[in-house]
Amino acid sequence: MDTIKRISVFGVGYVGLCTAVCFANKGFKVFSITTTPEKAEKINSGNPIIYEPGLEKMLKKALKKKTFYCTIDYKYAIANSDISFIAVGTPSLPDGSIDLSQIKSVSKNIGEALKEKKDYHLIVVKSTVVPNTSEKIVKKIIEEESNKKCGKDFGLCMNPEFLREGEAIYDTLNPDRIIIGGYDKKSINTLEKIYKKFYGKKLPPIIKTNLSTAELIKYASNAFLAMKISFINTIANICEKIPGADIVEVAKGIGLDKRIGAYFLNAGLGYGGSCFPKDVKALIAFSKELGYDPLLIESVEEVNKNQPYKAIELAKKLIGNLENKRIAILGLAFKPNTDDMREAVSIKIINKLLEEKAEIIAYDPMAIENARKIFGEKIKYASSAIDCIKNADCCIIVTEWDEFKKIKPEAFIKYMRNPAIVDGRRIYDPKKYSKKIKIEFIGYGK
Ligand code: UDX
Repeated sequence: MDTIKRISVFGVGYVGLCTAVCFANKGFKVFSITTTPEKAEKINSGNPIIYEPGLEKMLKKALKKKTFYCTIDYKYAIANSDISFIAVGTPSLPDGSIDLSQIKSVSKNIGEALKEKKDYHLIVVKSTVVPNTSEKIVKKIIEEESNKKCGKDFGLCMNPEFLREGEAIYDTLNPDRIIIGGYDKKSINTLEKIYKKFYGKKLPPIIKTNLSTAELIKYASNAFLAMKISFINTIANICEKIPGADIVEVAKGIGLDKRIGAYFLNAGLGYGGSCFPKDVKALIAFSKELGYDPLLIESVEEVNKNQPYKAIELAKKLIGNLENKRIAILGLAFKPNTDDMREAVSIKIINKLLEEKAEIIAYDPMAIENARKIFGEKIKYASSAIDCIKNADCCIIVTEWDEFKKIKPEAFIKYMRNPAIVDGRRIYDPKKYSKKIKIEFIGYGK
């Protein structure tokens, strides 16, 4: 087993492609597998399809070294590798529960390929899946399709991924911990050896556990982080009712307590993205299926559902009725440094403003193209932040891009028809801005 150097990775999203490319740059021979020939072609020409800092450079390096190849031929990839990571998407179904169709179809493919293979092969589930999925679905399907036995002919691990968009390469190379859930000792030891080789002296702590515990660790991590955000947003909403109270200082004050920790205490308009909303929903649905009402986690979601509308409430406080008012939206992506608008709070805010018959102009350094796919001609798009605020009656800061932080109150006063700002991400200093311009902040009592 010491010689394992050949890996296949199913899925070419953030997790799949970053995992594949990082392994390929650490001396492993990697097959990246997709079901779409056009995607394979683009990736093999050095275009990673998704935007992620550093990814394109690393992909090109691996392609040059010939340690990476993207293919649709999963049978060839499995026959010529010793371990397969499953990193396909697990989106939400309309009722919030998890859609496992891609997991099922990859498991079927792996089973078919293993049927023709003599050597031991390790399967590692990296996708976020609800507890029992690896054992009851992945293992079951592979055994049925291959006529082989888990633990004897092939191994099975669940190894969740905690990478953030925008920091995916850094997070893959520098994780806080590695979680290895295994069907048996041999599976766990095989994967541990691979990570020892991958990280060398920088090996992070490894938690070894069973499959379902590993699956739950991923959900518990994301639900906890989402809870921190909904918690600080709740306190922010209380702050607004206390003259002089400031959530930024409250967060600093509580964050220095090591038991609380300073991270993920930025109050704002709520969390979005491809993970927190879907994972919180899936955990609630899963827990209910088991007959337990996870009240705390349901509240986390409820708080987050309402938080984007704080932007509208504060805008009305500043300028009253929004009908026919020109509202400038600064920031569309679900967080800075990405073009991703999946579950972005900007969508809820803009839809509500449209309902109120406001006229909307929006700007984002990267996400305009994706916004056009959602809103089409229903809103206007600006080519710069200044262009966006020109002649506006109110400006709402929705995403905290660095370039918005540099806009001085004087610029808002100069360009806006009616200078009024809603700082939904706390990027401006209340003491400085409040003196010069009409402005409302999340979590700042007046
Ligand atoms: C998250 C997790 O961080 C990562 O571990 C997991 O693997 C996938 O989901 P990601 O969705 O890329 O990563 O973004 P993250 O930086 O965690 O932010 C998620 C959302 O929370 C964003 O909408 C962000 O604006 C919001 N957020 C984050 C806050 O509102 N306040 C904070 O203090 C932190």
